[in-house]
Amino acid sequence: MLQNQLTAVLLVSFLRSTFSRYLFIFHLHIVALAMCMKVVAFNGSARKDGNTATLLRRVLQVLAAEGFETELVQLAGEQVRGCNACRTCYTTKNKRCVIEDDKVNEYIQKMLEADGVILGSPVYFSMMTPEMKALIDRAGYVARANQDMFKRKVGAAVVAVRRAGAMSTFDVINHFFLISQMIVPGSSYWNIGIGNKKGDVESDEEGIKTMEDLGKNMAWLLKKINRV
Ligand SMILES: Cc1cc2nc3c(=O)[nH]c(=O)nc-3n(C[C@H](O)[C@H](O)[C@H](O)COP(=O)(O)O)c2cc1C
Repeated sequence: MLQNQLTAVLLVSFLRSTFSRYLFIFHLHIVALAMCMKVVAFNGSARKDGNTATLLRRVLQVLAAEGFETELVQLAGEQVRGCNACRTCYTTKNKRCVIEDDKVNEYIQKMLEADGVILGSPVYFSMMTPEMKALIDRAGYVARANQDMFKRKVGAAVVAVRRAGAMSTFDVINHFFLISQMIVPGSSYWNIGIGNKKGDVESDEEGIKTMEDLGKNMAWLLKKINRV
């Protein structure tokens, strides 16, 4: 009798430890697969490390905690030229813009290599910054000339605003994702943070929560799409 009980206890503890070992290995496997995925965020603000950067970093922090490789690219201080409408990208079809004297081709390459792309901009006179618009115009045209090369990547817009113009900015960035056949996750509010001086958005509790929820939803969606 005692021997049977002992055998049962040993068997249960063996099964338990085996199960938790498998669970641990399975968890490691999931994290390792997520680590292979990357999300790149672009900050279109002319002010480095301002409110848009703060919001983007919140989203990226959540994604990093979920095992994703992340990168923040800040356009501040960079010359980003607008599209010159030459349509050379439709002739060459080489996934590059013909303008080579700025970093846009480097940015396009980063988008191509990433599974998820976040475009962040402050509101300037009710719209995104000219740098972000130039990036969208050129990356968007090159993508369309190359069989919608961003198709089925995950895209999200993030906007910092003092008072008004956030929705139009948010909408226009999302139009880029949607016409590029990308997939856009939602959050608990539209992805907007309120603030004016550097760091103000830290006090926008709902804005910060929106960024964290966006990070969680992006991670969830990317893992589903990539069957992780
Ligand atoms: C040229 C310029 C235009 C702006 N236009 C608007 C505007 O139309 N509406 C608004 O609410 N805030 C406007 N702002 C304020 C910024 O959107 C706000 O300060 C934002 O938090 C800046 O983000 P950043 O720190 O990432 O640059 C403007 C700021 C600048 C520099």
